Amino acid sequence: MNIIPEYGLGAAKTPNAGQARQAFQSQNLAQQRVPIIESLFAYADTVRFHMPGHRGGKGADPLGMSLLGHKAFSSDVTGVPAMDELHEPHGCIKEAQSLAAELFGADQTYFMVNGTSGAIHTMVLAALDDGDFIVIPRNIHKSILSAIILAGAHPAFVLPAYDEYLGFALGVEESTLNQCLSSNPGAQKAKAVLLVNPTYYGTSQNLSSICSAVHNQGKLLLVDEAHGPHFHFHEDLPEPALRAGADTVAQGAHKIIGALTQASFLHIQGPNIDRARIKASFQYLTSTSASYLLLASLDAARRQMALHGPDLIDRAINLANMLREEVNRIPELYCFGQEIARQPGVDALDPTKVTITVKELGITGYQAETYLRDQMGIQVEMSDLYNILVIVSFGNTTEDISALLEGLRSLRLAVQTGQIPMRLLEAQKSIPNLPPIPEMALAPRKAVQGNWARVPLNESLGHVSAEVVTCYPPGIPILFPGEVITQETVDYLSIIRRLAFGISGPEDRTLTTLRVVESM
Ligand SMILES: Cc1ncc(COP(=O)(O)O)c(C=O)c1O
Repeated sequence: MNIIPEYGLGAAKTPNAGQARQAFQSQNLAQQRVPIIESLFAYADTVRFHMPGHRGGKGADPLGMSLLGHKAFSSDVTGVPAMDELHEPHGCIKEAQSLAAELFGADQTYFMVNGTSGAIHTMVLAALDDGDFIVIPRNIHKSILSAIILAGAHPAFVLPAYDEYLGFALGVEESTLNQCLSSNPGAQKAKAVLLVNPTYYGTSQNLSSICSAVHNQGKLLLVDEAHGPHFHFHEDLPEPALRAGADTVAQGAHKIIGALTQASFLHIQGPNIDRARIKASFQYLTSTSASYLLLASLDAARRQMALHGPDLIDRAINLANMLREEVNRIPELYCFGQEIARQPGVDALDPTKVTITVKELGITGYQAETYLRDQMGIQVEMSDLYNILVIVSFGNTTEDISALLEGLRSLRLAVQTGQIPMRLLEAQKSIPNLPPIPEMALAPRKAVQGNWARVPLNESLGHVSAEVVTCYPPGIPILFPGEVITQETVDYLSIIRRLAFGISGPEDRTLTTLRVVESM
């Protein structure tokens, strides 16, 4: 099969792509199959007296039908014998999961229908017992906090490196992790280390070396690779967590490759992780009516990567590099590249994540995002105080890149002509140093399950937080549920409250009050 014309990709451009393509083309022919999609086609004409109620679309609302189409409704089946069963796979789902495991190099792969959050919850719940410790970076995604709450575990925190100019956290430095493992009492007894790799901004740590250190201490390495399911398919991308030796890996197939939103993978390898516990946790947390649209999209995304992965990723890398180069030609805008790998806590960069720093224009990233959306019809992935983040995928075109560049030039002009006010105040350019991590008095689960009270920020000293409070920048939580509020924390939050930006997590976003555990 000649894979090039299907996507109009042309010759591979990065030096490593041609080699990777050859390796993939010679791969097992079975990867051309899509067992779940094949079964859905075969099931299409079946007369149905089972859930869901729309009966393959015949009973669907016409507006819903006109948006989603007949095929989506007819493929929306669940839990019938001909279509296998996600909780006890033995047919097309089993085959599809095995093909995914084979492709990614896992011993076993689960198809997840509740996002990468679902994969993270499953791997954490399987690894930990009530009261166990787990080492995590302080800047985790909130799904890891909820996993820790579900498991009844105690976190032992390790601080990630931080780039002051860019205003966000990078990865965890290996020496910092080793120091934590040897001297933090919670980390010493921890069963597992969970790392987020890559970060949202695409920076990646030296996972192989970290993995050896973690395994040498008899601990599990769990990796939140939500943003890295494409790493396996191109040599110019950071090392995938499975290749680095991680025990379990949660991947957002919907975030970066072509699966539908929510669809994710959970990969498992090696002898360290208890397979029966993974299966049980998966069953506790997964709907008994999983959507076959999501499952089919995972099957298709796996096939697409198996047959065309290196070329598609090559295309994304080239588009992203073109964008990066052109952005750096626009005065006052900055877009870091592989030089970020010289920073502590960074070993490599995924070039398809393009962070555009707008602070030298005197505006915030939030303003830039709003302008691009409202005036230029362009939606970026996210913004923070200093930056906007763009994810370039193989679904993007050179026209998309040109439109974004035009939008950025127009943004600069709008600032110069006063159409966009310079809201990045001097004070916001220097964020105060983070207060020390407070003592944890209660496991997060106990803190969120107890009775809550609301106290004014300036009266919160000594109380135990019942919520997480994060400020962007630095994107590192100031308070976790269960932590004792210190004077340094109150002082820091008072400054952030006056600056009034980037507050995430607390119920009262103005930080006038904090939710705390009610005193007994
Ligand atoms: C690093 C990281 N981990 C986990 C998740 C959770 O993924 P999902 O939204 O698919 O549940 C996200 C979501 O953005 C994320 O950025």
